[in-house]
Amino acid sequence: MTELIIAMDFSSKEEVYSFLEKFKHEQLFLKIGMELYYKEGPKIVEVIKAQGHKIFLDLKLHDIPNTVERTMKNLKSLGVDMVNVHAAGGLEMMKAARQGFGEGIMIAVTQLTSTSEKSMQAEQLINESLQTSVLNYAKLTQEAGLDGVVCSALEASLIHNHVDKQFLCVTPGIRPKTSSVGDQKRVVSPMEACELGSDYIVIGRPITQSHNPYESYKAILKEMENAHE
Ligand code: C5P
Repeated sequence: MTELIIAMDFSSKEEVYSFLEKFKHEQLFLKIGMELYYKEGPKIVEVIKAQGHKIFLDLKLHDIPNTVERTMKNLKSLGVDMVNVHAAGGLEMMKAARQGFGEGIMIAVTQLTSTSEKSMQAEQLINESLQTSVLNYAKLTQEAGLDGVVCSALEASLIHNHVDKQFLCVTPGIRPKTSSVGDQKRVVSPMEACELGSDYIVIGRPITQSHNPYESYKAILKEMENAHE
């Protein structure tokens, strides 16, 4: 069953609290990214946790193994439910991340979606297709004992077929048919993402910028339920 994660791409705690006011009786899964975390610090995590929501802390760690392990220990103590690293940090770094975080959902970013095949080849000197590199990083992520990767819903079946059916595909780039696409280029609907095998879909603006966030959230959940029927 696919789960929904709402991307809290707000720049201050006031905006977050006013958004969450509309969801008083719901238990949400919320993604906190660098923008909000670096502005408000760990306190924002504590406050949201205290309201009973789950948290994906999207800080994309990438450093030497020792530093990543110790940082992951700190993130674990905040009580977050999901964290991530850059697979480009390597096998040892990812194993250290797992060691530091212990149990809990840990995923990796493979190639950023802002990286084109051309720039990957020219700048990272990887003489392969983008898809080969993404699959290579996904396999490395699994070998390190992590749970999955961030990818497009369009890549989920490829990853499930070449890595493991249980390996998690966490997929942004989702747009309900009624929303504007914004800066996302290749988008799929919540229903399509479920059908394509996404384990978690990450949705921001179609909910956070909606004139009625609660209604938009409910409509997306309904669409997801229908896909699983
Ligand atoms: O507003 P929107 O639904 O586009 O938000 C998607 C979220 O997922 C944002 O927080 C964005 O940074 C994140 N994301 C993405 N594409 C990726 C990785 C992360 O859109 N490849």
